[in-house]
Amino acid sequence: MTADELREKFINFFIEKGHKQIPSASLLPENDPTTLFISAGMHPLVPYLLGEPHPLGKRLCSLQKCLRTGDIESVGDSFHQTFFEMLGNWSLGDYWKEDQIAWSFDFLTKILNIPAEKILITCFAGDSDAPKDEETAGLWEKVGIHKERIYFLNKSDNWWGPAGQTGPCGPDTEMYYDTGKEKCGPECKPSCDCGKYLEFWNDVFMQYNKTNGGKYEPLKQKNIDTGMGVERMLMVLNNNFDAYKLDVLWPVIQKIEEISGKSYEEEENKRPMRIIADHLRASVFILAEGIVPSNTEQGYVLRRLIRRSIRFGQGIGIKEPFTSLVAGEVVKIMGDTYPEVKNKEASIKEELSGEENKFSQTLSRGLKEFLRFFDKNKTFCGADAFFLYESYGFPFELTCELAAEKGCFINQEEYKKALEQHQQKSRTGAEKKFAGGLADQSETTTKYHTVTHLLHKALREVLGTAVHQAGSNITAERLRFDFTYPQKPTGVEIKQIEELINKQIEADLPVRVETMSLEEAKNKGALAFFEQKYGDRVKMYSIGEFSKEVCGGPHVSSTRAIGKIKIFKEESCGAGKRRIYAKIV
Ligand code: SER
Repeated sequence: MTADELREKFINFFIEKGHKQIPSASLLPENDPTTLFISAGMHPLVPYLLGEPHPLGKRLCSLQKCLRTGDIESVGDSFHQTFFEMLGNWSLGDYWKEDQIAWSFDFLTKILNIPAEKILITCFAGDSDAPKDEETAGLWEKVGIHKERIYFLNKSDNWWGPAGQTGPCGPDTEMYYDTGKEKCGPECKPSCDCGKYLEFWNDVFMQYNKTNGGKYEPLKQKNIDTGMGVERMLMVLNNNFDAYKLDVLWPVIQKIEEISGKSYEEEENKRPMRIIADHLRASVFILAEGIVPSNTEQGYVLRRLIRRSIRFGQGIGIKEPFTSLVAGEVVKIMGDTYPEVKNKEASIKEELSGEENKFSQTLSRGLKEFLRFFDKNKTFCGADAFFLYESYGFPFELTCELAAEKGCFINQEEYKKALEQHQQKSRTGAEKKFAGGLADQSETTTKYHTVTHLLHKALREVLGTAVHQAGSNITAERLRFDFTYPQKPTGVEIKQIEELINKQIEADLPVRVETMSLEEAKNKGALAFFEQKYGDRVKMYSIGEFSKEVCGGPHVSSTRAIGKIKIFKEESCGAGKRRIYAKIV
């Protein structure tokens, strides 16, 4: 089955069950200060899972582009990816377990024709916080899954959330496929990562709220949140357990074969080719969001992905610039489903080539650094090699070769140890970032969110309608806002913008929300610059008569709650784009 067929079958199935499709949200989280990328279909829905009404109702489904940076180093095997697509359906306090399990089973066995006896199920085993989920197991048996194929696992496997320290969470039930591989041992069962069992769909029953005191209280609004990995499901449907041979990745691998003149069938080429394909696919999507390679935040992840793919390209003997050629192939495969990559193809390729160019300069700097260090110390240890890699992106293999020429052997174990220590640190950081992020709808971020609307409007009042929002990011300390504008605003203009915003805050304007079609909202003069992500019904937030904008919320109820703001920085952030920072003082 092709990816297109699967996407369509899933969405149509849930539309027939009364769901509305929501478009894939941007890969960059909105109003979520603590995480760099959207990593699950539920991520853009957090406010609605917490009780905010969704303009499209209580039954939703989506195809969401996702990016997980936690284990970039694991990419290279047959199934890890940084970028992936997730299909999902949601009940926001509407239907519950019985419907969801019957639908999951029907979709798998009747629409996708997977034999029921190839499916295994895991349910929550129960602990002092919540009982064993016999109900869910019983429902699976009722629809036709044999008791022997239902496993009960504990919280670490069968519980999802809360996303932050507190908030909605609950037991989940996960669906696995038996690949037919030998068991790795007598204990091998679903959740074992030997590759025998492949998890492809997760139904979360968000029925608890974890309180500050660590208690799990029944939630007023019981939600269903499901996530199906497109690549995972396609592996099952095509009985092909190498994700890179699926139609969403295989042509990219073929392109890499063509450029390198090497074959993917040679075992030693598999890992580098998978890394190049995955990393450049992810890079195309990040670039399509307007992010450019840099040394901070999303730009840093992007830079790392591009540079890793270049290094692995060199490793398989690619001598000429190649990233934009591979990107072209990604655009060909994904451009119909995600028009944003097609629309930005030229600038994506340009950025990639620019980064490739810069990286070759970096490599020559790393070489100089190696020589300088070696001449001085006459030796080079594993930790030094790691330093060279971390600081200059200088490849370990290259360091080994250079050292060997000088008659020096680098201890690989020592290098690996330094690398692992570093990975451990960054992984913990990334997890913390994700964990803290999803439920972050604190009072302060809500205030900043309303300031963003005031700022957007004020910029247009003072600088004119050439100003369009190009991105925003909020932390508990400040807001950052990117917008299109060809030149640097003057100090006087910045002052005017700041004063205009503070005037609206002092006037204590009411903030109101109405639900309507996008067309209506635009007719009423609402700003709406992210067309690709709106559904057929949208929420329009008005701040007095000053600003109208299409947005998901939440916002303060009247502007005086904000206090006072100050613009403290303004800079360029790419051709024709400016970046402005403001804080509540
Ligand atoms: N939130 C769950 C997951 O990410 C289901 O969507 O797996």
